[in-house]
Amino acid sequence: MKAVAVYPADEKFAVIDHPEPALTDPKDVKLRMLDIGICGTDKEIVSFEYGTPPKGSPYLIIGHESLGQVVEIGPQVTRLRVGDLAVPTVRRPCEVPSCIACRADRQDFCYSGEFTERGINQRHGYMTEFVVEQERYLNPVPPSVRDVAVLVEPLTIAEKGIAQLKQIQQRLPWREQGSRALVLGGGPVGLLGAMKLVLEGCDTTVYSRTPAASNLEKLVSSFGAKFVHAETASVADLAGQVGNIDVVYEAVGASSLAFEVMPYLGTNGVFIFTGVPGRKGPVTIDADTIMRDAVLKNQVIFGTVNASTESFADAISDIGSSLGKWPDALRSLITRRWPLEQAAEPLAGKSGGIKNVIAVAS
Ligand code: BGC
Repeated sequence: MKAVAVYPADEKFAVIDHPEPALTDPKDVKLRMLDIGICGTDKEIVSFEYGTPPKGSPYLIIGHESLGQVVEIGPQVTRLRVGDLAVPTVRRPCEVPSCIACRADRQDFCYSGEFTERGINQRHGYMTEFVVEQERYLNPVPPSVRDVAVLVEPLTIAEKGIAQLKQIQQRLPWREQGSRALVLGGGPVGLLGAMKLVLEGCDTTVYSRTPAASNLEKLVSSFGAKFVHAETASVADLAGQVGNIDVVYEAVGASSLAFEVMPYLGTNGVFIFTGVPGRKGPVTIDADTIMRDAVLKNQVIFGTVNASTESFADAISDIGSSLGKWPDALRSLITRRWPLEQAAEPLAGKSGGIKNVIAVAS
């Protein structure tokens, strides 16, 4: 079968022929892959900055945002049937007995760092025709969200982040209204995070550059958030417009912007990092103000990566809600679908748009 693979040692990537996987365990499920989303992590992997092939393999099949359809099930599979749609999770637990997070099925909080990730770290991914996976790593998806279900995995980042935000905000039991939220970045993670914050009743503002030919302001307004153009409004202007910022949801991966915004985080505010910046060298930050405010304003600053099965279930439910409320806005996050043979073009990052998707089958 065809697969998109990267060879880190040789610094090349190609559409290759890879053996079609077969069921080997009674709880295995075989999926025909339908859609695979491309994100910044994939672009880094094909630039050889990130990503590790499975032990003994010279290549890694990429792809971790996906949707598949069940074509075969093992005799002990109970939740999925042939024909069902499913989104697989990404991270698999480490084998370190003392890693209590992995032992509790919460490999998204792995302590040992020896977790693996499909399509990223020591496990082949989903940008291929067929995949075999254990049932417990598959999340059933209703057919009504078929065309946008590839957005479930990037939405899980917001689901996990906002679940933690809610835990933190339990310390403020007198709050009656949704938070005032600021989203940094108008890419897929930022826009899906903004939609989730709006669903949660937050007064949400997205701060982003607007690439030529895109109409992010119109898109963002159509799902009930505000938009501030980073080209024309400074961070100080932005903060003046938003008021006391209860939540910052960072989705740009640029440390300089994140730390420029941090001094404007409000009293009792929460700053959520989701971006993974490249190592571009030190940036100057106002460390005294940041530390002083963190203490004197009871602020919480945290980072979040990957997601649990619960966050996948929440994302599938919220994709359904968003599709019901804002069908055009949600669908417009998917800019274009490409055949697998042409994966190189969107992976090179030059095709533009919001989310590019490889459509392996329909
Ligand atoms: C993926 C996560 C993964 C992270 C780090 C992200 O692009 O969505 O599942 O944990 O990269 O590898």
